[in-house]
Amino acid sequence: MKAIVQDRYGAPDVLAVREIDQPVPGASDVLVKVRAAAVNARDWHLMRGDPYVARLMDKKTFGRHGPNQPVRGTDFAGVVEAVGRGVTTFKPGDAVFGEAQAAFAEYVCAPQTVVAHLPSALSFEQAAAFPLAANTALMGLRDLEAGQHLLVNGASGGVGTFAVQIAKAYGVEVTAVCSTRNVALLRELGADHVIDYTTDDFTRGQTRYDVLLDLVGNRKLRELRRALKPGGRLVLSGGGVSKGGSLIGPVGLIVRGKFAERFVKRHSISVLDAVPRADNLRTLADLAETGKVVAAIDREYPFDQAAEAIRYLEVEHARAKVVLLL
Ligand SMILES: NC(=O)c1ccc[n+]([C@@H]2O[C@H](COP(=O)([O-])OP(=O)(O)OC[C@H]3O[C@@H](n4cnc5c(N)ncnc54)[C@H](OP(=O)(O)O)[C@@H]3O)[C@@H](O)[C@H]2O)c1
Repeated sequence: MKAIVQDRYGAPDVLAVREIDQPVPGASDVLVKVRAAAVNARDWHLMRGDPYVARLMDKKTFGRHGPNQPVRGTDFAGVVEAVGRGVTTFKPGDAVFGEAQAAFAEYVCAPQTVVAHLPSALSFEQAAAFPLAANTALMGLRDLEAGQHLLVNGASGGVGTFAVQIAKAYGVEVTAVCSTRNVALLRELGADHVIDYTTDDFTRGQTRYDVLLDLVGNRKLRELRRALKPGGRLVLSGGGVSKGGSLIGPVGLIVRGKFAERFVKRHSISVLDAVPRADNLRTLADLAETGKVVAAIDREYPFDQAAEAIRYLEVEHARAKVVLLL
């Protein structure tokens, strides 16, 4: 089968379309014929081995010269081709979506615990846009209560566009932070207030927030905390803007956040570690079925142009989601 493979870290031209063996499902796995796959910030982080320090901290993921899993991609939607003998929830022919390693390929093998049935309201392209980004948004916004005021920094990206809509579906007041060209998109997606970071600094405004979801990692911890109400909650996701290679990137902020989470009393600080879960996919499928959450797709690329799709996401600040079609 064809897959998007890399042998070394680097810019998108390290990615090649190559013939590799089709994966074989284990007892609790589902083998899916991929119809669409979505690009995430994770793909360029892994492709570049960026930030460099991650290669030292996460040896399970980052090998010495390239990622341990050479096939890129995480999000997929497609049709079940075969199932392991312990799988009861899915059968060949089912339309599904999910999150697993090596999704930029004609076939992906995923544990049944990270796969859900495709909501009837969604096409394969739309469904593929959901798993990693929407699950991250959902997990980042747990414990949010109706009537609270949320600020999303990096609201026009993959995670941010889902976070804005999920929060609105839960009755939360939302302020979205993005660049000028994305202001209209965020209003369309339901944000109550939009701050253009090229002209305004949310950490210097008068408004204070109950929850701040940071998806960019470009501000100091004390600046982010300044924007919170007493008792407010800061959720750090990582972030990092691609500059063609960074040493520490957002890891410095995460380390400071993890340290502060134990000692800071005035606010609660948490570092998000979103793990894929089928029950979250089902919650997202319900939100999609009722039209409360949509995938904002910026561009679609043919599968063999995956390198160009990742380049567009990391260098040109794609808005919301970029999807590959198979
Ligand atoms: N902790 C976890 O479990 C977890 C899971 C998933 C993702 N993440 C992290 O979350 C981050 C966001 O993911 P994503 O998929 O949403 O990425 P994305 O689609 O690439 O979005 C990046 C966002 O950053 C904004 N941005 C870029 N430069 C900026 C700047 N100088 N100031 C303010 N905003 C800026 C972009 O907005 P404009 O184009 O408007 O500038 C865009 O909204 C990634 O870094 C990813 O690694 C963490």
